[in-house]
Amino acid sequence: MHTKNLLILSLYLLIITGCITKKSISTAYKEQYRPQFHFSPPAKWMNDPNGMLFYKGTYHLFYQHYPESNVWGPMHWGHATSTDLVHWKNKPIALFPDSLGYIFSGSAVADMNNTTGFAKKGEVPLIAIFTHHSVELQKEGRNDFENQSLAYSLDDGETWNKYSGNPVLKNPGIKDYRDPKVMWYEAQKKWIMTLATSDHITFYSSTDLKNWTKESEFGRDLGAHGGVWECPDLFPIDFEDEQKWVLLVSVGTGAPNGGSAVQYFIGDFNGKTFTPTDKKTKWIDYGTDNYAGVTWSNTGKRNIFMGWMSNLQYAMVVPTVIWRSAMTTPRELSIKTVGQEFFLTSKPVRELNKVIRKSELSKNVKVLDTLDLTSSFEKSNAQIQLKFNSNQLKDYRIILSNNLNEQLIIGYDQKENQYYIDRRNAGDYSFSKKFGTKQIAPRLSNSDSTDINLLIDLASVEFFSDGGLNVMTSIFFPTKPFSRLQIQSANGIVLQSLTCSSIKRIWN
Ligand code: FRU
Repeated sequence: MHTKNLLILSLYLLIITGCITKKSISTAYKEQYRPQFHFSPPAKWMNDPNGMLFYKGTYHLFYQHYPESNVWGPMHWGHATSTDLVHWKNKPIALFPDSLGYIFSGSAVADMNNTTGFAKKGEVPLIAIFTHHSVELQKEGRNDFENQSLAYSLDDGETWNKYSGNPVLKNPGIKDYRDPKVMWYEAQKKWIMTLATSDHITFYSSTDLKNWTKESEFGRDLGAHGGVWECPDLFPIDFEDEQKWVLLVSVGTGAPNGGSAVQYFIGDFNGKTFTPTDKKTKWIDYGTDNYAGVTWSNTGKRNIFMGWMSNLQYAMVVPTVIWRSAMTTPRELSIKTVGQEFFLTSKPVRELNKVIRKSELSKNVKVLDTLDLTSSFEKSNAQIQLKFNSNQLKDYRIILSNNLNEQLIIGYDQKENQYYIDRRNAGDYSFSKKFGTKQIAPRLSNSDSTDINLLIDLASVEFFSDGGLNVMTSIFFPTKPFSRLQIQSANGIVLQSLTCSSIKRIWN
């Protein structure tokens, strides 16, 4: 075993034996490829974000977790909390598998009116609604091995108890029947559950979270169907004087750049049925690494989204040892129109500014051939923001590199009107044939000016352009951290402004 792996193993042993100190945690979060300003679990496997709930000033994040290995296995809900969506505190595991099965994905709500009766009069229980996935029933060849269950917390999310009447929503014989996302529908004073049911969504309603009535189905003949539908989310969003409804649906295969991604529909919801305004398939993120993302519950008018920053094609074999996978930066969602069409935009939450050390803003910057920004890019966690003058949207390449000639290229191809992220020579891709790719995204905006917001961590980049209309998230594994930054444009561009700021690490 390599010395590096031995070190990692001993660190992990320290964590699981409980001998971990604050100091060794901060060492763990300094591992090669460890995200510096993104959430990643202290150790072992993580996939989907679950139970995202804001309550009494705390953002709860639960996540699909297998604490015994760095590959997928019997699912638990790991837990972390934050008061600012930036700094995270790791908490004990919230839900363990039991006789009804593994704890698959789901959501959490604050039961403000104590409709479940789980709390004393006048108190508010927090409720987790999740899928119990029974491997025993699956092995027997049955179709009804996924059922929906509840857990509740009477101490504001610190500890959780499973409901004795589980499951509360029994499977009618649909093999993939999972990932309940529940919201309070104030207009009709009832709970709505949005459930992934194989190749479509089923909406259910309830007044007490325990008894559920089927309302409608959506999507058999709409959207992308390269794989089963998973991890849906339904929420209202303000647009000018109207309220629109957004339905997010993850799909396991058939994403624009391969593998898994999140598609969405914008439309109306009347407490029973969801009606989309158009029939096009839209993607929240064209990059390869944003899956199973949903929004936080109980955040008022803000719609805050976070996804799992990986892809089902290679998530289990990426070259990290002590832990596997991170989450995307939390993003605020809004609606924008292009022509008559509605689209979602994503922007990093404003709270991230807490850890961004803003640098001088350069104005009217000419990029002729190559502009070297290495001197302002001393760390590999950075935010780069570019604003283009009108009619300056021409071919450009933003290149991150190291002295081993590994490079990640983020760019725009004017002829094709496409953005791209090219990680074909960005370091290690030997672990999967699917990884060393160039990802492309059609430009959605029709404006003649543009802007870019780029978030760079040790092993990921998040590219937001045109006010967040186009988003691409991509992970990468350079042999040595990227330390050089250049912008290139063969035909020359004039930038209205340019900032290159460093981002402080969040793990101390
Ligand atoms: C999505 C998913 C969910 C499921 C969970 C199991 O990545 O397949 O549909 O609940 O992962 O870990």
